[in-house]
Amino acid sequence: MSIPPKKVIFDTDPGVDDAMALYYALAHPGIEVVGITTTFGNVDVAQAATNALYLCALAGRQIPVTVGVSQPLVKRAEPPPDFIHGADGLGNLPHRLATAGTLDPRSSAQFIVDMARQFPGDITLVAVGPLGNLATALQLAPDLPTLVREVVLMGGTVLESGNVSPVAEANIWNDPHAADAVFTAGWPLTMVGLDVTHQVILPLSLFRQIAQHQQHIATDTLRHAVAFYSGFYSAHDPAVGQITGCYGHDVLAFVVLTDPALFTLQSGRVRVAVDGLAQGQTMMQRKAVSYPQHGWHDDIPHTQVCLRVQAQACQAVIEAVLMQDWLQNPLLNC
Ligand code: BDR
Ligand code: CA
Repeated sequence: MSIPPKKVIFDTDPGVDDAMALYYALAHPGIEVVGITTTFGNVDVAQAATNALYLCALAGRQIPVTVGVSQPLVKRAEPPPDFIHGADGLGNLPHRLATAGTLDPRSSAQFIVDMARQFPGDITLVAVGPLGNLATALQLAPDLPTLVREVVLMGGTVLESGNVSPVAEANIWNDPHAADAVFTAGWPLTMVGLDVTHQVILPLSLFRQIAQHQQHIATDTLRHAVAFYSGFYSAHDPAVGQITGCYGHDVLAFVVLTDPALFTLQSGRVRVAVDGLAQGQTMMQRKAVSYPQHGWHDDIPHTQVCLRVQAQACQAVIEAVLMQDWLQNPLLNC
């Protein structure tokens, strides 16, 4: 008897590595993407939604896409990192096809709540941007943690240096208050942070091979976007520059779902520094002791934190999944 695919809502700010992650999920037979909830982050939220619709249409897939939060819950918004993802989030595409597809009218948070109530215990949330949609969904439905199956987020770091400050990773830094709400909500939660995503360097040549192997507008668009994104990482990190490549960040949030044996996890409480010099730091309690200090009481729930990954095997999995013949004809607006 075959195992039914996991129903996933993909919460995202596409974003080049978000696009890689989406295509990995669509290509993987063990995952059924039942909705894409967008947020500000790598681009503004309107562009994020446009990109999500576009990537789905190119791949020939009709999936509900919603517009979510446009700014952080409390702090002032940071400028989008156009030098990493391009001003359009997809490496400044030279042109776009006229594709079909319209937005679901619900907010991202409302969509998450509706789906969790429609499929209690079945929905996995994979969140790879700032966490305002999940935090807002928790405000709309405080019982949400009992309704979803699990949450996997790409964000944060424990032992590895941060990528926007010495201690902060970008998704958490972009909305630290939302992130702290997600880490303390009490749902089964896995954190895929820089501790593992900085171990997996994907060469640009892989995306050229994928585009060559399966000649299609979707793989060609991904190749173009990754070329821009690799340019940034290769210039900023000598280890990445050596092979002309990039970090796959968001795609690892799906690999941990499909191939958990590749990761070493530790369970512990995680809290987020919401302001000050350490803003956006994910602080993990790594020792099983009781701390009487405010904010670290025994009733704070645990997070499963990915601390190590088998990098080569992880890259091989990503390659094998993206090399499959999974694409359909693009949905064009004609
Ligand atoms: C995270 O920040 C974004 O730029 C990427 O899409 C990823 O989600 C990495 O820190
Ligand atoms: Ca992202």
